[in-house]
Amino acid sequence: MTTSVAFLSRHERFRSVPSTNDVVRTWLTAGTAEVCLAVAGEQTAGRGRSGRCWVAPSGTALLLSLGFRPGYLPADRLWRLAAVVSLAMADAAEAVAGLAVGRLRLKWPNDIVVEVASGAGGAAGGLRKVAGVLGETEGVGTADQLAIVGIGINADWPRASFPVELADSMTSLREVSGGRPIDADELLEAFLLRVEPRVMALRDGHFDVAGWHDRQVTTGRTVRLERSGEEAEEVLAVGVDGATGALLVEDSAAPGVDREVLVGEVVHVRLAAAGGGDVTQ
Ligand code: BTN
Repeated sequence: MTTSVAFLSRHERFRSVPSTNDVVRTWLTAGTAEVCLAVAGEQTAGRGRSGRCWVAPSGTALLLSLGFRPGYLPADRLWRLAAVVSLAMADAAEAVAGLAVGRLRLKWPNDIVVEVASGAGGAAGGLRKVAGVLGETEGVGTADQLAIVGIGINADWPRASFPVELADSMTSLREVSGGRPIDADELLEAFLLRVEPRVMALRDGHFDVAGWHDRQVTTGRTVRLERSGEEAEEVLAVGVDGATGALLVEDSAAPGVDREVLVGEVVHVRLAAAGGGDVTQ
């Protein structure tokens, strides 16, 4: 790792760990300053959102976690750390994979997805997940709140070895770029260069609301919200709220009025009628 190291208080690479989020949490709990970074070639107990596991065979993905002590953010703005990680990775991935700016989209809250056309051999079109973000916090609202943001992005992962059950819902930068080899170190460097100014901006009280808004794939589309133990609901997504981080949906009981859906309220957001193309990785 050559560039952006000054931005990091501690950075370590591991061949294999249970979860990079846990590595960083241990560091933060022991008093390590922000921003600390753990990168792993493989995770044996990688975690996704809502208790799901996150699987990526060794060498196929960039798996990392950043640790923060965000005393500069009020508790209700901590979500912005995950958003800047997602935005920086989308920018970096487009640059490294040679994709047009804006090709990668965010699916609220923080997935990075790409829209693909139906392919030869009957491959389903629709949204495919390229990366997922897991934000975890401790001591929220105290004088020493901690935040851990982990991201896993499918990088040099050939379609031939996608897990069968995920093959229609996920993809990798290698596949999206038409078979270009993706170097994880190059992607990491590109990411660090882009996340540093975004974190500095947060420290100064600024967040790129417009950039976050522009990347959203759900805006103007009908989404299916799945809550734990409840019947799914289909609603029109009309945007995102740059203050609260909420997904804004049309209130069917009061047309013309927006309703907020907060992170943690739903276990899955899918595009309605997306066929085989929405994401479950
Ligand atoms: C999701 O989409 O459900 C979130 C996936 C987050 C996966 C990353 S990989 C690096 C970090 N360590 C983990 O255990 N999870 C995150």
